[in-house]
Amino acid sequence: MTGDLALLGGVPIRTEPFHTWPVIDDRDEQMLLEALHSGRWSRWDGTYTRRFEEEFARFTGARYALAVSSGTGALEVAMRALGLGAGDEVIAPAYSFTAPIAAILSVGALPVLVDVSPESFCLDPTATEHAISPRTRAILLLHLGGVPCDMDRFSRIAEQHDLRLIEDAALALGTRMHDRQVGTLGDIGIFSFQAEKNLACGEGGAVVTNDDTLWHRAAEVHEYWNGHLVPHAGWTSRTLSYRISELQSALLISQLTRVEAQSDRRARHGALLDARVHSLPGLRPVSVPVGTTRNTRSLYLLDYDAATFGGVPKGRMIEALQAEGVPALPGYTHPIYENPIFSSHDSSYPQLPVELAQLRPEPCPVTENLCGERAIWLRQQTLLCEEWEIGQIGDAFEKIYEHRARLA
Ligand SMILES: Cc1ncc(COP(=O)(O)O)c(C=O)c1O
Repeated sequence: MTGDLALLGGVPIRTEPFHTWPVIDDRDEQMLLEALHSGRWSRWDGTYTRRFEEEFARFTGARYALAVSSGTGALEVAMRALGLGAGDEVIAPAYSFTAPIAAILSVGALPVLVDVSPESFCLDPTATEHAISPRTRAILLLHLGGVPCDMDRFSRIAEQHDLRLIEDAALALGTRMHDRQVGTLGDIGIFSFQAEKNLACGEGGAVVTNDDTLWHRAAEVHEYWNGHLVPHAGWTSRTLSYRISELQSALLISQLTRVEAQSDRRARHGALLDARVHSLPGLRPVSVPVGTTRNTRSLYLLDYDAATFGGVPKGRMIEALQAEGVPALPGYTHPIYENPIFSSHDSSYPQLPVELAQLRPEPCPVTENLCGERAIWLRQQTLLCEEWEIGQIGDAFEKIYEHRARLA
């Protein structure tokens, strides 16, 4: 490949942005206008939220779906539906976004943080088994960037130890294991519809379950009139509100019709990019567990080994990619146990567990390495572009490799 690196003053491989996000057309406009003019903007008297819930349940294969205000809200509703609280431990990945850990803390339970697998970047089943204690009630499975956790193994672990499985599928709509949507394989699952997610309406989320009791509890705790979904149990002062609006639900109905084709496209383009980067030393695309039928690739995840690539530090590699027109990201920059919100007592959460020191029961070297020098992420919309543009991403990696000595 000719030409100097863009970072060092050369011509970039591309200057145009990749695929735009969100994708909108006349159908979205029509749905939003219909909901607007209906004059019924709340699920109490509107119809769009119920309709979306039915369509989303059908789409995911879940028996029940409850639309809520955000992915974080969905996590809190799931924790409350499971009845988790003070004295309970929930095993969760140390390589994680804050929301699932904050949701565990919000009900007064203790997150026990465990390392992830270097192959999948998702919770390590063996490390999880070692972290189980008599107080463990549940395992929180974060399907990172669309890569599914090893659900076969986690289902066996849960059965053996009588634990609940909570799936955070905020980044995994479209990922299937054994042809089933992740999020519907454990006891209760959640999705996020925040603007950057595979299915987006600005802000929103959903709880899914196949369990009658959990669905009833989720409906009850998600707002003080339980969305008129289950017989009215009374208006209790302790019920919060996680309601979604009818305008967001209307938009979700039209956006949902694109998810299948977009997931296929990202999966196909992700595989093409895997083949390109595999040929370069020091770059390994993330692996999915046996049984995965489709990785929806909400993120394109790479394991980067700077030493093998020629000593180019990860930060420099990302700068060089960005300069070539590839919007690469460093991913989570520190293990979740280093997040200051968990090490200082916040008086707005009076029920925070006192055992916060246990947040890091064992060292998590894989997480430390991913946050430090190893993980590189690309956003999902990058993979929605044309096939020749995927080729340009491969070209950028090759160009940087060719000039590695000048960046090391
Ligand atoms: C893995 C994961 N879980 C939960 C959430 C929270 O979703 P929301 O932003 O809709 O509250 C996010 C948001 O990015 C996420 O990445």
